[in-house]
Amino acid sequence: MLVHAIPGNVNYDFAADVRDGLTRRGQKELPSKYLYDDVGSALFEVISHLPEYGLTRADERLLRRNAHEIVDRVAGPAAVVELGAGSGRKTRWLLEAFCRRQQTSYYPVEISRSALVMCERELSDIDAISIVGFEREYLDGLLEVAAYRKPGQHLFVLFLGSTIGNFDRVAGVKFLSQVRNILQPEDSLLLGTDLEKSRSDLLRAYDDELGVTAAFNLNLLARINRELGADFHLPHFKHVAKINEEARSVEMHLRSKRHQVVSIPQAESVVEFEDGETIWTESSHKYSLNEICDTARQAGFRCQVQWVDEQWPFAENLLVAE
Ligand SMILES: C[S@@+](CC[C@H](N)C(=O)[O-])C[C@H]1O[C@@H](n2cnc3c(N)ncnc32)[C@H](O)[C@@H]1O
Repeated sequence: MLVHAIPGNVNYDFAADVRDGLTRRGQKELPSKYLYDDVGSALFEVISHLPEYGLTRADERLLRRNAHEIVDRVAGPAAVVELGAGSGRKTRWLLEAFCRRQQTSYYPVEISRSALVMCERELSDIDAISIVGFEREYLDGLLEVAAYRKPGQHLFVLFLGSTIGNFDRVAGVKFLSQVRNILQPEDSLLLGTDLEKSRSDLLRAYDDELGVTAAFNLNLLARINRELGADFHLPHFKHVAKINEEARSVEMHLRSKRHQVVSIPQAESVVEFEDGETIWTESSHKYSLNEICDTARQAGFRCQVQWVDEQWPFAENLLVAE
């Protein structure tokens, strides 16, 4: 077992993105990737255990029950790349099945250094695995892994937890097409997707009773305070989850409880909030089963198998690059 991290080459400008998102006309917005600093990644791990958030448990049940079938269907020999791996906890089922078949190279790609550390710690005891973590944005990491590909080796890409839902539907197709363009024919992608469900289940999942999701969302303002010297007063903002019927998504916002002015010195910005105005921080789009296959086809994949959980509508989709 080898564990090795390729560190710190994440290609983003937090200050510029905060300035652009908070000073634009109309709806203020911050990219959801910034929710995941050390505190945010730890809070997301707690969210994945909450009774209201059935998504991670459904994903894990499907992986646990179907790991061997999934691995048997993946063209080999293959290296495993996981985009936005998080703690990697449920990936264990797939990797153990993989390692029974072959010595396995596993490449988690993560924007959050602390998630990468969690993931490497979580999975490093598996026999016959070597782990090389990439602290990168999704496509940058995938491109680097693809550049290391050995002759005749396939790539098996994992994009679990319905993280695809953070993209709107058009951006989702574009992202999957970009992934496809990095892959070769017969490489595979295992895509986890949360399916449409009732409003009440969705609202509970994104606004839990304990307030962990609220803390996860508010931590984004705390992060701006910590990293950019801002003076957001957190009690003056409230976490809100709302359904967007047209987009078929749940949105997370931070609502200003009063008229207020916040300065963000390292983003060279002073931002005024009206009473009730919101910052849009994340969307989670929900899918139907047929739509996933259409989306896959548009991006250059064929949909080989879909496994659906019986308790929480969620699908694991095995897509093969055409
Ligand atoms: C919704 S969490 C899912 C984590 C894990 N895959 C799961 O299913 O529980 C999204 C993960 O993607 C990472 N992430 C978000 N945006 C990213 C980006 N642009 N590039 C790389 N990683 C990203 C976050 O740090 C986080 O760990």
